[in-house]
Amino acid sequence: MTTRMWSGAVLVIFSVTVTFAIPPDYQLPKLKKDGKQWALLVAGSNGWGNYRHQADVCHAYHIVRSHGIPEEQIIVMMYDDIAYNAENPYPGEIINQPGGENVYKGVTIDYKGKDVNPKTFLDVLQGKEENVKGVGSGKVIKSNSEDNVFVNFVDHGAPGLIAFPDQFLHAMDLNIALDRMHDNKQFHQLLFYLETCESGSMFSSLIQKDYNILAVTAANSTQSSYACYFDKKRQTYLGDLFSVNWMQNSDKRNLNSETIEEQFQIVRKETNQSHVMEYGDLEMNLLMLSTFLGYEQDNHIVLDAPNPNLDAVPSEDVNITIQRYVYRMAKAENNEQEMAESLDRINAIMKKREETDITMKHIVSLVAGDNNFREQDQMLMGENNLYRHDCYVTVVEYLKDKCDRLDLPSNRYSLKHLRIMVNLCERPYSTDAIISAIDKVCL
Ligand SMILES: *[C@@H]1O[C@H](CO)[C@@H](O)[C@H](O)[C@H]1NC(C)=O
Ligand SMILES: *[C@@H]1O[C@H](CO)[C@@H](O)[C@H](O)[C@H]1NC(C)=O
Ligand SMILES: *[C@@H]1O[C@H](CO)[C@@H](O)[C@H](O)[C@H]1NC(C)=O
Repeated sequence: MTTRMWSGAVLVIFSVTVTFAIPPDYQLPKLKKDGKQWALLVAGSNGWGNYRHQADVCHAYHIVRSHGIPEEQIIVMMYDDIAYNAENPYPGEIINQPGGENVYKGVTIDYKGKDVNPKTFLDVLQGKEENVKGVGSGKVIKSNSEDNVFVNFVDHGAPGLIAFPDQFLHAMDLNIALDRMHDNKQFHQLLFYLETCESGSMFSSLIQKDYNILAVTAANSTQSSYACYFDKKRQTYLGDLFSVNWMQNSDKRNLNSETIEEQFQIVRKETNQSHVMEYGDLEMNLLMLSTFLGYEQDNHIVLDAPNPNLDAVPSEDVNITIQRYVYRMAKAENNEQEMAESLDRINAIMKKREETDITMKHIVSLVAGDNNFREQDQMLMGENNLYRHDCYVTVVEYLKDKCDRLDLPSNRYSLKHLRIMVNLCERPYSTDAIISAIDKVCL
């Protein structure tokens, strides 16, 4: 009895001592400089209307490069159809803020065009060099247990998936790859910054909390992410809100003395149209940003930037907002031909949206029952979390392949409506029932 009390007292004293012995900068042991730093930067889209995704990624390249991560340890995947796009009034130039510098300059692109796809992305991430032999530069993340890895992906998304130009990357496949990398000791710590709509759904309920992986996302599981900086001359958006905010913060601050947490709090406040979220190992918040973005000081002069919130629009409205602007300009100039053309484009977008709505309603009515309006409404309006990944992946891939009118994977309005497929799968209706409804509606 007395012995136990005695040892209890010692324990208390011991834990008190330890509490006081921890210096405020106790994260220091994690700040290992001996390992290498790797960065994988990916823009998953193509086309002039998606200018901003590649602009973000070029900007990210300069951040990690100018903070000292060597060229050999940075891998860039982007379609590369923007700088010399026929619609670019400034050939060879990409900017990421109004009046900004040319961020395309100096960027080495490892994987372009058709090589920007989910399989290559996962191979590069997991260091599977033999799988990308003869593809692009063939460079992969060759990291070991000492190294820190930074991944930045920017593009369109939907519940449980992120898009590439022709294909989807599903949440399960991404998380399995990250888990494998952890098991194979392919990183000391990994930081993932993800800008897509519904980006939270890629990690919530899937990411391991004790695998030294921290994911920061532009939005929660059910929200759009936002484009910003509409450029009148280029007639497209120059950046995305979350991306622009974290990168402008990184450009201004000393990355050796700002923690991930500090940046998260600032960016979360600035990105006020969606909820910036964090998933995984939240203890990593204590690490300095330089742990992932490079230890060297970057002394280049940072240009002032306007507030990106002022003209932010949800990703699915980028198309139509641009056309409305073109129409207003044409009207101001009394250019009737241009007015008619932009009106045609606006009508085409509206028609496509209506078609998407009708298609989704039709599928739901077949699955939920023609007269069951209450159930139909729940399927159309609900915002369920995704757990039945098998059903959802099958259904979404089927829609992409068989339902041409939805324009998957590129049409953001259709992508947003995939949450209806989440609702159906979670009800749970059987995969077969949903597939057979799709057959009837789309074929
Ligand atoms: C995401 O944000 C929306 C809008 O604020 C909110 O209604 C919804 O509950 C949030 N979802 C999650 C999972 O946090
Ligand atoms: C977001 O912040 C901007 C200023 O930065 C402000 O004009 C806007 O009203 C805010 N929006 C919301 C939804 O709070
Ligand atoms: C923009 O609109 C066109 C025509 O409706 C469509 O094909 C394209 O996928 C849309 N892009 C996005 C990002 O939604």
